[in-house]
Amino acid sequence: LDNGLARTPPMGFNNWNATHCDASFNESMVKGVADAFVSLGLKDVGYTYVNIDDCWAEPSRDASGNLVPHHTRFPNGIKAVADYVHAKGLKFGIYTSAGTKTCNAANGFPGALDHEKQDAKQFASWGVDYLKYDNCNNQGVDAQKRYKAMRDALAATGRPILYSLCEWGQTTPKVWTWGEPVGNSWRTTGDISDKWSSMIDKLHINDDLAQYAGPGHWNDPDMLEVGNGGMTATEYRTHFSLWAMMAAPLLIGSDIRNASATAQSILKNTDIIALDQDTLGKQATIVSSSGGKTVYTKQLANGDHAVALLNENSSSKTISTTASAIGLGGSSSYRLKDLWSKATSTTSGSISASVPAHGTVVYRVSRG
Ligand code: DGJ
Repeated sequence: LDNGLARTPPMGFNNWNATHCDASFNESMVKGVADAFVSLGLKDVGYTYVNIDDCWAEPSRDASGNLVPHHTRFPNGIKAVADYVHAKGLKFGIYTSAGTKTCNAANGFPGALDHEKQDAKQFASWGVDYLKYDNCNNQGVDAQKRYKAMRDALAATGRPILYSLCEWGQTTPKVWTWGEPVGNSWRTTGDISDKWSSMIDKLHINDDLAQYAGPGHWNDPDMLEVGNGGMTATEYRTHFSLWAMMAAPLLIGSDIRNASATAQSILKNTDIIALDQDTLGKQATIVSSSGGKTVYTKQLANGDHAVALLNENSSSKTISTTASAIGLGGSSSYRLKDLWSKATSTTSGSISASVPAHGTVVYRVSRG
């Protein structure tokens, strides 16, 4: 969406993967996450949006049809939280559904279908900078119609609000074929869970979608699970590496207030973040894939390429490619930097590594 936002993929936090609708999702958590963004140095490396997900509202609108913040989770309202987040130099995001109710329909939280203008205005008045717009309870109304209605309602507020479509790639035509003029990102997949198999499944759904991504409009394979405990450190490094290669939104999905040193160091790898945030805005493509060994390449603004060697096997494997195969021919020597170990080397063209089980080696490759 050409609204000046998300010129590189959005970076931030969303509580869903950590809390779902648990009671721990509340004002103090959200403020604590904003504090942690500053104190842990996450803000310094680019994490900006502090976003809240489903279950922030009361089940009923008020007499004027306005949304009402949940009385125990957000006793001081949403604007107070947004103000707190803004005072830290960060941005604030909210959630609703392009349906009559949000996905947590058991509790009946109101959705924005047929309330787009009123809800967009209310979000803008609270200081919302980002809207995640889900797809539940959509009453069978055409997806493009529903998502365009909220796009137009957000634009009419005059406030810049990043617009994240959460349609999950459900309908035909697929959201990535019509998303560019509608949203700043669109979910291509169902929900990720904190497991290797789920993460890999979401990744591969994006394998062939590079042509649809670019500045202002990104494929979204769902939020990060790094730090939630269901994968090994090696697997979380793979997760983070490949989300960056895919120019995916980097939304931390763990309770970063209690992050382990390992999770923090993964999420703060500035060499990997630089791939995601590269201003050329190219999503990686596949160079080769067989036997659970996949090579991805991503073109970068300064002429370098990133290459990721992914090993899905349960034992270590040697994975190899060449500078010309990844799109960087024409030189007699190349410099490689391993973006996790930080080791540097030179090569006349062959690019290879022994990659641990479920691991990914990522090189930044430069000519000369
Ligand atoms: C479905 C979405 O895909 C999730 O990310 C989350 O927002 C839930 N709905 C909330 O109910």
